[in-house]
Amino acid sequence: RFLASLADLDGVVPEPHRVADRYAAVPRSEPGLFANTADTDPAVADNRTRVRAVLAQSASSQLGLDLPRISDQAHLDAAMEKAAAASWGGADRRAVLHQIGEALEAHRYTFLEVMAAEAGKTADQADPEISEAVDFAHYYAELSAALTDTDGAVPVPARLTLVTPPWNFPVAIPAGSVLAALAAGSSVVLKPAGPAERCGTVLAGVIRDALGAAGADPDLVTLLQVEENELGRSLIAHPLVDRVILTGAYETAELFRSFRTDLPLLAETSGKNAIIVTPSADLDLAVKDVVSSAFGHAGQKCSAASLVVLVGSVARSDRFRTQLLDAVSSLEVGYPADPRSQVGPLVEPAAGKLLDGLTVLGQGEKWLLAPRSLDDSGKLWSPGVRDGVRRGSAYHRTEYFGPILGIMTADSLDEAIELVNEVDYGLTSGLHSLDADEIRTWLDRVQAGNLYVNRGITGAIVRRQPFGGWKKSAVGAGTKAGGPNYLVGLTGWESRESSA
Ligand code: SER
Repeated sequence: RFLASLADLDGVVPEPHRVADRYAAVPRSEPGLFANTADTDPAVADNRTRVRAVLAQSASSQLGLDLPRISDQAHLDAAMEKAAAASWGGADRRAVLHQIGEALEAHRYTFLEVMAAEAGKTADQADPEISEAVDFAHYYAELSAALTDTDGAVPVPARLTLVTPPWNFPVAIPAGSVLAALAAGSSVVLKPAGPAERCGTVLAGVIRDALGAAGADPDLVTLLQVEENELGRSLIAHPLVDRVILTGAYETAELFRSFRTDLPLLAETSGKNAIIVTPSADLDLAVKDVVSSAFGHAGQKCSAASLVVLVGSVARSDRFRTQLLDAVSSLEVGYPADPRSQVGPLVEPAAGKLLDGLTVLGQGEKWLLAPRSLDDSGKLWSPGVRDGVRRGSAYHRTEYFGPILGIMTADSLDEAIELVNEVDYGLTSGLHSLDADEIRTWLDRVQAGNLYVNRGITGAIVRRQPFGGWKKSAVGAGTKAGGPNYLVGLTGWESRESSA
């Protein structure tokens, strides 16, 4: 019923304007064949040139930062009480959220700079991410206006929402979570991820300033940092927190739940995502989309492709592999301040599971392109491609979160779908095929939250591709971020009688 009332929003919500908007999309109900036009669009090319020039000049400049670090329980309680006391009062959430969207856009270059310097984001990765943050603001602004009484139920805003974002999308994900909670009428505490805390600090600063300028209470957003120890645990389990929005590893979501049994958690978690390529596919397009999905931001995306499953004759011939290797070995690896860089650094030096993924082969596997560590930092790795990944192997089932792609083979599309569905996660999934029956079969059977046909599998666009997973890729109550029901899950509902 709520969905039905939101259907009226079609045509009212502004079209997403981000650069990636030019990537055509596939609505789930209408499989079809689409080309990716971004590379030939002069506006996109101009924008890239512009942002790269700015980055090259300014990546090292310093930003004024103020990140309150919580040192003990009393300090934490005081901050949480102050945050919970902030209120929207009579302010018009829709108008304020639109103003926040404008403020985020006005700070595009500040974000580009801090994302490059702190989070290793190359401009072509950071720029659409900032656009996504802007889109979240304008989209949730409109959804906030739709969050009204429906069928006898009255929305009761959460008092305080805690947002714990990851470091890999250090602007779009915290922005989306904070803005959704604000749009749903809550006040928010943002605890940025340690490796991306300057990005979080700039973001919170821009949002707080915009709240104040729009006549709302800046304390609706509280930024704080805690160590991930006992105090961190107290933050997650804090009795004043009504909702927790987490984006991170599946294990982190489980840990959060162990802190408080009734934790009202909405968690977007891990992925082990694959693109299937069938003999009917446009192989040139498939190679391009596999490469961008696997190695964009050095593979540090929950949505990244870390498997490609080649079907039938594509598996048996060398053509796809040869083209793939050509493409991958042509990628420029380097830091974002160098405008030529296409694969940036890891945010943290490779260690543990990721280091294994970069260096250890499973049974029957071989490197088509072995990853190499390119400097002493442990962060700069050339991309790797392993062939011969076996069903049920560690590589088949494990999320590595780095610049590695594994090749699997299948005799049929059915078998390929089984391989994809056999992993515990179900976040994004891709199919390259020009056969309508194959597309329909895959759409019906593949188990993942976000499905993309003849397109890369990262970079979901707000409203057009609401983002969220199945199986171990989501934990707790939740609907898709950037989709029409997201604010509903952040809100309490009372029947009209009990609220009267
Ligand atoms: N929303 C991002 C993507 O689609 C992942 O968090 O790539």
